[in-house]
Formats: sequence, C-alpha cells, structure tokens
Amino acid sequence: MGAVGHALLLTVFTIATSIWVGGYVAIGVVARSAAATLDGASRVAFFRSLGRSYLRVGTPALVVAIVTGAALVWGHEWDTLLGATVAVVALLLIGLAVAVAQARAMTRLRRRATQQSDDAQLADDVRSGARRATALRATLGLLTIALVVLGSFLATGRSA
Ligand code: HEM
Repeated sequence: MGAVGHALLLTVFTIATSIWVGGYVAIGVVARSAAATLDGASRVAFFRSLGRSYLRVGTPALVVAIVTGAALVWGHEWDTLLGATVAVVALLLIGLAVAVAQARAMTRLRRRATQQSDDAQLADDVRSGARRATALRATLGLLTIALVVLGSFLATGRSA
C-alpha cells in the first residue's frame, strides 16, 4: 500500500475509533443526566429511542474500525499479540450482541414495572437485570480499552 492509501486508511480508522469510544463515553454521561432528570416512563422511552439510534451509529463505526484496523496490521506475523487482539475483537462483538439483547429485555421489563409499580417481584427483577446490564456495559468498556492498548502495541510493532 502506498503512503497516501495508508494515510487515508489511518484517517478512516481514527474517525471510526473516535466515534465508537467517544460515543460509548457520551452515552454514559447522557445516562447519568437522564437518570437524574426523567421519571421512570420517560426514561424507558428515552433510552429505547437513544439505544436504537445509537445502534445504527456505533455498530457500523465499530465494524469500520475493525476492518480498517485489520487492513492496517495486514502482513503482521501471527503472534501472541495479534492472537490476543483478534480474541478481544471477537469477545467485543459477542458482548455487544448480548448487551443489546439484554437492553431490549430490560426496556420491556422496566415498562412493565412502571405499569405495575406495586409488583415487588418485578421490581426485584429490574434491580438484578440492571446490575447485569451495568456489568455487561463495564465489560464492553474494558474490552474497548484493551483493544486500544493492544492496537497501540501492534502499531508500534513491538510485542507486549
Ligand atoms: C455502543 C454501545 C451501546 C449500544 C449499541 C446500545 C444500544 C442500546 C439498545 C439497542 C437499547 C435497547 C432499546 C430498545 O428497547 O430497543 C439500549 C438501552 C439502554 N441503554 Fe444502551 N447501548 C450502548 C451503550 C450504553 C451505555 C454505555 C449505557 C450506559 C452507561 C447505556 C444505557 C442504556 C440504558 C439505561 C438502556 C435502557 C434499558 C435499561 O434500562 O437497561 N447504553 N441501548
């Protein structure tokens, strides 16, 4: 690949990575403000809309970052570092699919809980589901950071 092609690839990679990482952090900030200002039903409707809209932005950005990242390290010899990076990419994609399915289930559960506010079992299910959702989101965040670190090592051409 020529220098111009490499620079263009790096540009697309940098923009896609920024959207994924920045979007992830921004949703966390928005979630705090939404929790502080919206009542239960509005919060459920808000996150349903935000989650679905963001899915159409964040997922393509992640895919573009993975594809352009793969093109940038193309030809790198297969070693522990590259193997770990591929494993983290796979875990991130699987984790994203699980987190989205769980978020959809949580939206349905929260909607039922706001309609039947006297149901203690439902309230309990919401609490344990919310803990699972937080753990999943934290895992995705950690996998994202791990990927940035591994990618940086790959970019410098050194072994971890
Ligand atoms: C890029 C990553 C993310 C994607 C693609 C995503 C996508 C989604 C989707 C599709 C929904 C379900 C909407 C529906 O009902 O159909 C949702 C709900 C939700 N999301 Fe996200 N989300 C992401 C990251 C986050 C983060 C980082 C947070 C907070 C720190 C968050 C907080 C929520 C909340 C609170 C809900 C409502 C369901 C619940 O109470 O768990 N999301 N999201």
